[in-house]
Amino acid sequence: MKQTTEVQAQYEAFPYPERDPADEKNRLVTGSPSFPEEMDHWLWGGMRDWSKPLRALVAGGGTGDGLIQLAQRMASAGKPYEITYLDLSVAAREIAQARAKIRGLENINFVTESLLNAKDFGEFDYIDCCGVLHHLPDPQAGFDALASALAPGGGMGLMVYAPHGRSGVYPLQSAFNALGKGLTPKDKLHLARQIFKELPDAHPFKRNVLVGDHEVSDAGFFDLLVHSQDRPFSITQLVESLERAGLAMAGFPVPRHYDPSQLVPDPDSHLSDLSETEKLQLSEDLRGILKKHTIYAKRPQDLRKPPYGNPNAVPVLREINSAHLANVVSSSGSIRLTDRGENTLVYIPKTSGKLIAAVNGRRSLGEIRDANGLDPISFSAAWGPVERGLEPNGLLHYSNIHRVGAQ
Ligand SMILES: C[S@@+](CC[C@H](N)C(=O)[O-])C[C@H]1O[C@@H](n2cnc3c(N)ncnc32)[C@H](O)[C@@H]1O
Repeated sequence: MKQTTEVQAQYEAFPYPERDPADEKNRLVTGSPSFPEEMDHWLWGGMRDWSKPLRALVAGGGTGDGLIQLAQRMASAGKPYEITYLDLSVAAREIAQARAKIRGLENINFVTESLLNAKDFGEFDYIDCCGVLHHLPDPQAGFDALASALAPGGGMGLMVYAPHGRSGVYPLQSAFNALGKGLTPKDKLHLARQIFKELPDAHPFKRNVLVGDHEVSDAGFFDLLVHSQDRPFSITQLVESLERAGLAMAGFPVPRHYDPSQLVPDPDSHLSDLSETEKLQLSEDLRGILKKHTIYAKRPQDLRKPPYGNPNAVPVLREINSAHLANVVSSSGSIRLTDRGENTLVYIPKTSGKLIAAVNGRRSLGEIRDANGLDPISFSAAWGPVERGLEPNGLLHYSNIHRVGAQ
């Protein structure tokens, strides 16, 4: 109980992340989870009926990044939604409310309440819980509470911290909390900032190029280095927590992060005896760069694969201009991606560039095929490398949310 109070005091003093509602006039903060096209792809086989209102819960919504993205994208797509926002912090809720107000976003029910009581607020088609469960005194109670609030066929987008990418964080959290016992959050922060300056350059945290929140704001510094309740999850532990809550992994925003085959020589012989979870864990251990796990999850009986190869599926590029990408592919036959020190060269035949150019978030695969005068076999040969190159990197999803006249 004491711990929960300390966490509440932190988020009242330092609502997270630090946001100025006035910035809503200039930019939309985007990310995963809760990007509707990505949700559709991993949770509903790319075929959700978006004419039906999306009943969503944003659990531990903080100052509103996930909430605002979801509501804004639904509103911009002209699709109906009703969102319940829950958070224990009044200060965070007030900022989230101000952000929604500036954008004129409606149909959001703001409630200061624990996500452990999620079920009291109804059944949800979608639950966002980003960066919260690892801060609960009993994280499993959080997984279970959210699972119990999921409507039949519903899905979740979750983010919990991962250990390797946060190297150096936990010894500092432990030290700053030992020294700051009994202090107010503001005094604790002041003390931690003073000590931080004196740490040796070779401290594992100072060598960790993956973390940066402590440089962004007081809220970021506190959340990263002074948090009183924070436990990371290995991917194996996350899978176990999901299973205990009656859930299964439905997908990752960037599946490549969880695929060890690019790092292991002769993957067929080295990986074939491993379970799916062992492969995920191997990838996490070998890459060493994951500081969080962002995943989509559903009840096992509700899982639906993305609609690979389905002529009715509508491909959508993730925040990339299709004409630009088509030009790169048509001229070089490859795309170079850099992700935290990992360079990936994705090969896509130059001749597939014209298919990418036709992707506009509204045309189906069948329509792109017909517009290019291709028979199903030639189309699948040309489209396959686009799908296999872009989707594992989180750059392509299937969703009919923008399809005119869909449902
Ligand atoms: C790290 S912030 C994440 C905020 C937001 N989801 C994001 O990703 O930007 C964690 C939030 O969880 C809230 N929180 C912690 N325990 C909670 C609980 N039991 N029920 C609801 N919210 C909780 C905190 O008040 C805080 O706003």
